[in-house]
Amino acid sequence: MIRIKDVLKEQNGSYILEKLLKKDKAWLFLNDNLEVPKEYFEIKRKIDSGYPIEYIFNEVYFYGDKFYIKEGVLIPRDDTEVVVERAIQVISEKCKKKCKVIDCCTGSGVIAIEIAKHTNAKVLATDISELALEVARKNAKLHNADIEFKKCDLFDESVDLLVANPPYVENFWQKPNEYEPDEAFFGGDDGLDIVRKIIKEALKFEIKHLILEIGYNQKKPLSEFLDNFNCKYEFFKDLGGRIRGVEILFC
Ligand SMILES: C[S@@+](CC[C@H](N)C(=O)[O-])C[C@H]1O[C@@H](n2cnc3c(N)ncnc32)[C@H](O)[C@@H]1O
Repeated sequence: MIRIKDVLKEQNGSYILEKLLKKDKAWLFLNDNLEVPKEYFEIKRKIDSGYPIEYIFNEVYFYGDKFYIKEGVLIPRDDTEVVVERAIQVISEKCKKKCKVIDCCTGSGVIAIEIAKHTNAKVLATDISELALEVARKNAKLHNADIEFKKCDLFDESVDLLVANPPYVENFWQKPNEYEPDEAFFGGDDGLDIVRKIIKEALKFEIKHLILEIGYNQKKPLSEFLDNFNCKYEFFKDLGGRIRGVEILFC
C-alpha cells in the first residue's frame, strides 16, 4: 500500500493530493498514513509523459494571482512578470491622466489583467486565437477586471502604450510540450518576424510607446532593426540578469 507520506516527497506530490482530496498541506501531514487514491497515479503518469500539470487542474499562478488555463492556450511564464512590472511602472509614472493601453497577443489575459488591477489605465487586449480570448475573458471575470477584448491580427487602433509578449521563438526551436499552440511560440527564422511587424504597425497607428518581451539572444538583431527608426530604446533584464524585454519610444 502506498501512503500519503510516501508521495509527499515526490515532485508535485503534495500539490496533486491537495487538489485531488480538496485538503490543505497541514491535513496531508496529519493524515499521512492514509492510502493514496488511485487517481494520483493516473495523474502522475500523465505528467511524467509530458502533459502540463497546469492543464490537468486548469490553474496557473502569475504575478501572485491564480488564473484559469486550458489546453491550447499558452501557460503564462514567470519570465513575463518583469514585462508586467515595467508596464505598471511606466503607466504609474507617465500617465497622469487615464491612458489607453493595449495588451497585444494577450493569450490567457494575464498581462492585461495585472495592468488593469494595478493601474487606472483603460485596457484593451487582442489575440488571433478564439480559444485564448475565451480563457482571457474568463480570467478577466474571475478578477473583476474591466478589459475590452478583441479578436484581431495584432491590433487596429492607436493607444498610449502597447505591451506585448508576442511569439518570438525561432522556428527551429523545440517546443516544451505538444499541447501549447505553435502560434504562441514561433516568430520565423530568427523569431523576430512578429516583433518587427508590431513595431511597423505601431508606427502606422502612431503608437509611440511600446514594451515588448523578447528572447535573451535577440538584443543585437533587434537593435539593428530599431536603428532604422527615429526612436529611443532600452533593453531590460529579468532577475537572473538575462535580457527579457525592450522598451521603445518613438520620437
Ligand atoms: C507568447 S503568447 C503570450 C500569451 C500571454 N500574453 C502571456 O504572456 O502568457 C503569444 C500569444 O499571441 C497570439 N498571437 C499570435 N499571433 C498573433 C497575431 N498575429 N495577432 C494577435 N495575437 C497573436 C497567440 O495566440 C498567443 O496567445
